[in-house]
Amino acid sequence: MSTPDHVRIFDTTLRDGEQSPGCSMNPAQKRVFARALAELGVDVIETGFPASSVADMEASRAIAADLRETTLCGLARCSDGDIDAVARALDGAARPRIHVFISTSPLHREHKLKLSRDEVLARAVAGVERARALVDDVEFSAEDALRTEEDFLVEIFSAAIAAGATTINVPDTVGYTTPGEIRGLFERLRARVRDADRAIFSAHCHNDLGLAVANSLAAVEGGARQVEVAVNGIGERAGNCALEEFAMAVRTRGAYYGVDTGIRTPRLLETSRLLTRLTGMAVQRNKAVVGANAFAHEAGIHQHGMLRHRGTYEIMTPESVGWPATQMVLGRHSGRAAVGERLRALGYVLDDGTLAQVFERFKALCETQRVVEDADLQRLVEGESASG
Ligand code: KIV
Ligand code: ZN
Repeated sequence: MSTPDHVRIFDTTLRDGEQSPGCSMNPAQKRVFARALAELGVDVIETGFPASSVADMEASRAIAADLRETTLCGLARCSDGDIDAVARALDGAARPRIHVFISTSPLHREHKLKLSRDEVLARAVAGVERARALVDDVEFSAEDALRTEEDFLVEIFSAAIAAGATTINVPDTVGYTTPGEIRGLFERLRARVRDADRAIFSAHCHNDLGLAVANSLAAVEGGARQVEVAVNGIGERAGNCALEEFAMAVRTRGAYYGVDTGIRTPRLLETSRLLTRLTGMAVQRNKAVVGANAFAHEAGIHQHGMLRHRGTYEIMTPESVGWPATQMVLGRHSGRAAVGERLRALGYVLDDGTLAQVFERFKALCETQRVVEDADLQRLVEGESASG
């Protein structure tokens, strides 16, 4: 089997994620989280948008002083002031990257920028050139790329590479695309953009239609070798591609995609929880990978299957993402096998007749209680012994 291709993980929790409602962090918190991201094994950390606030400038500087191994990136519009602000913020960083962007779609050109195609092109080239004069690692993003004329994307990306961009990012800014569409776009861009091989192509998918992870995987099939993500999927509106979901999709189905990431997946849960603690923004119980129900089983048939072989209802192990174990939740849907197993784990070895009686009591308790805890089970057994 050939060696899997490395997909770079570009984490934007501290920029795109942090700028969304309810997720803001102060510089000290950002610094703590940046360390956690480095431990997790991300390739690039976008530390912020230094020209946008004093806090972003301060946070980027603090992170740059701290982390030597990970590439650190700051966002800038294609303006001298923004670009120079990133250079100042990351001055002293071991591996600085300047990320310049400009909107390219007709809607944004006409209503947001009030610029013609040629003017956007000229600003993009000037922005990349200025950034490249300051650092060797320059990313160029065409904001709202998925609603931009394809010929214009080919033209502007070719020009950006000629001007020195080393990463070409294709953002689905409003979460509008679908997997088949974005895969085809990446394939065609890599075939049509001049000197495409001189740059890494990157996907940046928003989740407005709940497709950010699926679209990012499809982009990888189309040739993307950098994916932009945020922990817990935080980000503008419905968020960005969730780091933990993308990383586990690649780990679980990597053979199909022929790629891997450098993410230390057993750290996923604690990183997710750290972000919740820092921002106060919790994840829903049924969130893939890091939600409380992600490895919890209640239905009798599932619990029975799981007791025979974990693979029956788990495609990845809880330990592989940082959970201590699978959780068998005892409730109305549970069967006798799971109740018996839990009792054995608590040290009770019951004969079949006693177990049947305890199970009847358990069912009765479930009429009034959603989840039966170990202490409840203990009472049920001890009641049984007393009466028996
Ligand atoms: O969604 C977007 O287009 C962005 C760019 C600035 C990369 O976040
Ligand atoms: Zn974005």
